[in-house]
Amino acid sequence: MEILINKVINADCMEIFKNINDNSIDLIITDPPYGVNFEEGLYDDSTSAVFDNYGKWLEEMARILKKHSHLYLFVPTLQVEKWITEVKVHLRFNNLLALQVYQTNTSSSIKNNFTYDLQLVIYASKNKAKDFNKVKWIPTSSSWLKDKRNTNPQPFTYQYPSFINSNIVRANTKPNDRIKRLHPNEKNPQILRYWIEMSSLVKEIVLDPFSGSGTTGEAAWLADRQFILIEKNEQYFKIVKKRMKNLMKQKRLTEF
Ligand SMILES: C[S@@+](CC[C@H](N)C(=O)[O-])C[C@H]1O[C@@H](n2cnc3c(N)ncnc32)[C@H](O)[C@@H]1O
Repeated sequence: MEILINKVINADCMEIFKNINDNSIDLIITDPPYGVNFEEGLYDDSTSAVFDNYGKWLEEMARILKKHSHLYLFVPTLQVEKWITEVKVHLRFNNLLALQVYQTNTSSSIKNNFTYDLQLVIYASKNKAKDFNKVKWIPTSSSWLKDKRNTNPQPFTYQYPSFINSNIVRANTKPNDRIKRLHPNEKNPQILRYWIEMSSLVKEIVLDPFSGSGTTGEAAWLADRQFILIEKNEQYFKIVKKRMKNLMKQKRLTEF
């Protein structure tokens, strides 16, 4: 298990789960294939590839999560009921989050039925969820920073935890955010970092068994957590490996 820490692994997650102890992972954030026949990814998104396996994936995730720890599971709008029903078999279903997305509106996204205005995310836990951490997220206004009544000026103010930070409302990255988009399903690292800070502590282990381009890894590293990233496709694996290698050379940020 120790050898998996802060590593990117090129494998089927079911193989790697075998090496992860029961009750050992502090947080899982993941975006698995949805089973909606999405055609732009280099992975099998057929109904059978996903729905023959999702029960086993969730069973393993429930086994390795620590008691009371949290799971954030990106799920499709199509078939969402199926995902919720299966999550309830293995974990405690707490909430369904709905985040806005940047639309691409390409002919292929329309063809793929991916033009919904919202990205859904299941928030679940192993048994009763532990409390959220307080997070420092509201930037203090310049006027309050200078105000005489402010005896302890701080750049950020603690926000009572809520899933959606009003400054970070999109689940994905802007279509042209990166010179070359890393992955067709790339998520917004800021919102993942926000959940990581709410749901885990510094140096705790964050797992993403379907890492894609490695967004969870980036967010975990910047938040000073340890990560385990698993990606089955070799091409995407190489992207994550490079992304994490470059990132790990940089100093971690203490604030956004
Ligand atoms: C929806 S994408 C994740 C995208 C990611 N959230 C990001 O920000 O880039 C799902 C990924 O899971 C990978 N995958 C599919 N089946 C897998 C399996 N059994 N084990 C590990 N990875 C798998 C796919 O290759 C794909 O890259």
